[in-house]
Amino acid sequence: MSALPYRIGYGEDAHRLEAGRTLVLGGVPVPHAPAGAVAHSDGDAALHALADALLSGLALGDIGQYFPDTAAEWQGLDSAVILARALELVRARGYRPANAALVVTLDRPKLGPLRAAMAQRMAELLQLPETEMGVSFKTSEGLAPDHVQARATVLLVAG
Ligand code: C5P
Ligand code: MG
Repeated sequence: MSALPYRIGYGEDAHRLEAGRTLVLGGVPVPHAPAGAVAHSDGDAALHALADALLSGLALGDIGQYFPDTAAEWQGLDSAVILARALELVRARGYRPANAALVVTLDRPKLGPLRAAMAQRMAELLQLPETEMGVSFKTSEGLAPDHVQARATVLLVAG
């Protein structure tokens, strides 16, 4: 086991957006989204970035190794399951998340009204107080209108 009392994890994810699909971010469906993620699972880029951040903090690889996108059994998978698995792996190594920060880049719609709901759901999934779950939003300034991107950092503490 690692001797480090703290470990930082970083993860990111991106999906192409297509009309007629539901957009889910941070475990929360986004109403009035003109397009949703094209993905094998539910395409929740925020939860995928968080799961990769957890795994990377302990050098455990990335979610593609645990949930291959070629496996039929993961079709339409609720990404909360992916995040729960990553958390389980972290806890099995004697660490837990202390705080996390997430940035979503999306041009439309505005996500500000969903910030509290997303923070609440992600804090719940990470078993953190809501005050330890940072959520920020950015547009791409029109550079990537058919694209959703999420980036996440997490601090893991031993014990
Ligand atoms: O990216 P930009 O600096 O233009 O974002 C300006 C503001 O718009 C930020 O305060 C951000 O929280 C908000 N925003 C949002 N939903 C998005 C993108 C940005 O609420 N999809
Ligand atoms: Mg993804």
